[in-house]
Amino acid sequence: MAKYMVSFMPTNRSAMVEEGTTIAEAARQADVFIKNLCGGEGVCGQCRVQITSGKAEADEQARAFFSEEEIERGYVLACQTEVHDNLEVLIPPETRMEGAKIMTGEAAGPEAEGGAKPLVRKIFLEMPEPTLEDNISDIERVSRELRRKIGWHSYEISLSCLRRLSEKLRDSQFKVTASVAKRGGGYKILRIDPGDTTSSHYGLAVDVGTTTVVAQLVEMSTGRILGVSGTHNLQASFGEDVISRIIYACKKDGLGPVHEAVIKNINQLIDDLTSEKNISRDDIIAMVAAGNTTMSHLLLGLLPCSIRLEPYVPTADIYPQIYAREIGVQINPEGILETLPSVASYVGGDIVAGVLACGIPDHPEVRGLIDIGTNGEIAIGNN
Ligand code: FES
Repeated sequence: MAKYMVSFMPTNRSAMVEEGTTIAEAARQADVFIKNLCGGEGVCGQCRVQITSGKAEADEQARAFFSEEEIERGYVLACQTEVHDNLEVLIPPETRMEGAKIMTGEAAGPEAEGGAKPLVRKIFLEMPEPTLEDNISDIERVSRELRRKIGWHSYEISLSCLRRLSEKLRDSQFKVTASVAKRGGGYKILRIDPGDTTSSHYGLAVDVGTTTVVAQLVEMSTGRILGVSGTHNLQASFGEDVISRIIYACKKDGLGPVHEAVIKNINQLIDDLTSEKNISRDDIIAMVAAGNTTMSHLLLGLLPCSIRLEPYVPTADIYPQIYAREIGVQINPEGILETLPSVASYVGGDIVAGVLACGIPDHPEVRGLIDIGTNGEIAIGNN
């Protein structure tokens, strides 16, 4: 099949695409983001672009959105126009998505009220070296020391972590840092690192919004917010509201691109925050994500189709704790990702996060939370 180069102005980004690809899809491939209110159904007229070089014509349906003069000047709908030539495409200001400012709040806030209760703890362990009188296995030695420090729990460890344990203990004279995550009634040992690394202990809190994605870099031992970064949700090029995104994700081969778009957002935010604070991605050992039910499904790569259809049932409202790497999030390879639970198909983990953050479960007096977002919700309650 023939391939053509499509260049987008004013960013001067381009993509080589197969003949018949829509201009909207070519824009996505070139990392150019244009408005897409109806999810590419050709009914909103928001994806208007101007062809400044090459041949492409507005189809009959699209003509309803343009004046004769605009058609003469090469205006087409990006979602309805196929590529059959090398093209230069000008994206007019009203079609670009990068205009609005993203509110991210303040970094360097106070330490967490009542002390931080991090999802992953780092514990420095100084253990006696094995002797003939004390020759328990390496993992038992680590578990014994952890029980001394944080209590009598069960401790499980992954095979990959276990494989390197012997070497790490002996190279560091049995002085190591264990990163442990709460798991059911016990703990999972995620990493064992030589020496004391407790001062490099970071996590991410990510708000996966329909319109914007915002990440906070958090010092896990204190709960202090070190940096905040936000960006437009790249999924907007598949539709601006949750219903359009569900429709796109439920088309053949639709889920992958929508899922990958938000992972790309998150990895870009991690890049921004780690460069700004001069820390390594490897020092980020946990991530918590909150979003509405559809956003949580798309983040985890779950099909959201039934959320839109009566009787409006999601695949899940409680999500498994996973390794972040399982969905392509680039933090420490042993780092975990927890997605806050949803309440119902249209009341998600973002509201759960808000309820927790404003202390509704901790106080006897009735408090209210009003979330004025792309969708709106109100929660009222007490402890
Ligand atoms: S007409 Fe709505 S996105 Fe193209």
